[in-house]
Amino acid sequence: MTEVDLAHPTEDSADAWWRDAVVYQVYPRSFADSDGDGVGDLAGIRDKLGYLELLGVDAIWLSPVMRSPMADHGYDVADPRDIDPLFGDLADFDALVAEAHEREIRVTMDLVPNHTSDQHAWFAEALAASPGSPARARYYFRDGRGEGGTEPPNNWRSMFGGPAWTRVTEPDGSLGQWYLHLFASEQPDLNWDNPEVSDDLARTLRFWLDRGIDGFRIDVAHGLAKPDQLPDMAHNDESELLDSAEGDPRFDQDGVHEIHRNIRKVLDEYPGSVAVGEVWVDDDERFGDYVRPDELHLAFNFRLVQADFDATAIREAIDHSIRAVGRVGATPTWTLSNHDVDREVTRYGGGAVGRDRARAMALVKLALPGVAFLYNGSELGLPNADLPDEALRDPMWERSGHTERGRDACRIPLPWEGTEPPFGFTDGKSAPWLPIPTDWSGLTVESQLEDLDSTLTLYRSALELRAKHPEFSGAEIEWYGSPSECLAFRRAGGVICALNASAEPISLPPGTLVLASAPLIDGKLAPNAAAWLV
Ligand code: NOJ
Repeated sequence: MTEVDLAHPTEDSADAWWRDAVVYQVYPRSFADSDGDGVGDLAGIRDKLGYLELLGVDAIWLSPVMRSPMADHGYDVADPRDIDPLFGDLADFDALVAEAHEREIRVTMDLVPNHTSDQHAWFAEALAASPGSPARARYYFRDGRGEGGTEPPNNWRSMFGGPAWTRVTEPDGSLGQWYLHLFASEQPDLNWDNPEVSDDLARTLRFWLDRGIDGFRIDVAHGLAKPDQLPDMAHNDESELLDSAEGDPRFDQDGVHEIHRNIRKVLDEYPGSVAVGEVWVDDDERFGDYVRPDELHLAFNFRLVQADFDATAIREAIDHSIRAVGRVGATPTWTLSNHDVDREVTRYGGGAVGRDRARAMALVKLALPGVAFLYNGSELGLPNADLPDEALRDPMWERSGHTERGRDACRIPLPWEGTEPPFGFTDGKSAPWLPIPTDWSGLTVESQLEDLDSTLTLYRSALELRAKHPEFSGAEIEWYGSPSECLAFRRAGGVICALNASAEPISLPPGTLVLASAPLIDGKLAPNAAAWLV
């Protein structure tokens, strides 16, 4: 029996609405475009709240909508307390939050505390100031190594490829210091040892909480603190973009926890608010540290994203995720995809098999105790799209010298209706910012809504069962014995989830079938399928 104690000492249970929530990630550029410029926006999201209510999600998470030059599509923030005109304005934001709340959908948003945009007022000030100045001390400016400082201060690589340092031209026109950017050069890293930086984040948290927001996703939560002296990386393999090995000095420094404690203190002033950290940390114990009672409420556990469609790997991912947070009494989180990784349909093999497996894994994810995150388009069974080189927009493509195609393939605008692109995403005045495959007419919301066999219908049924039936309660899961290449577990409340990752149909565990991701074959669970029983 794997046990999770969901009781959290500092949480009033009425405020912990998120403990078993289904949170839908909206990637705003790609969700719905209301003004015909080919990029999604806040009014577009608001127009589709009825759809999200019908789907049955408890909350949305908005990828960044703050003012940004969009070098990394919003993860480069120039003003954290304003909305980018591409997405609308603060009035649109307030209207979205108000209407979502009327529909009993909570709203959480991304915050990007690790770095700013190079267009942020602070960075402009730093560039205009001299080495050693207070303006530069908000970032990591260092002299270069070697004669004339021509080499970067250390060997760190940017997660998007190339060195993590860029040299600046000093105000007098000479070549000068270097600044650190773990991501694109347009995303200078903030120096979290500087109290101005933490004070500013507290201001930002309060700014949005005062507008009625229900919580935050904290970008790069494991990367905010940098080690003293910025030592070289032992491994800086160019092939490991967007990845980090154990002992990587760029991430998971002990200093991050003080930062999260300070974030938590602000959130505790706003009962019912929640923070979920993006934490790419493999070690269970170190991962659990991020969700200690006085730190973040939740942390994304990416083990399911990283697991193949293999019963042993999936079971291990589940056990690790539960164990990692159980030690500190926090709630597990589950996610199959997001805007940074291949869509699950594609990861599991693509085509009909990939789609079947993704449907099966949706039932596995939604049966587990804790918070389920759902990336927009998963409910439609969208795969990655094949994009021609000239369509690529992710900064990784350029920074990697055209060796890494980046993440555009999982960020295609959503197909809403009709038989040809842009499938109702935009009114057609401008092309969608990424092209939508012409053969997606069978994947639109319109075509799936009334189709009882569609992935959208499967998700709607699953979310309704999960929300309404007491069998989906209970923080514990018990593993059942199951045939090879299969798994089955039971929630304390009574629901049983069985997954068949083998090539043969298998008998179902005892119980009444309430939902299956594929039709049974002679009463048995089909390969690449999952079922719920009570
Ligand atoms: C993680 C975000 O999810 C990703 O999209 C972004 O590029 C990096 N952080 C940098 O902010």
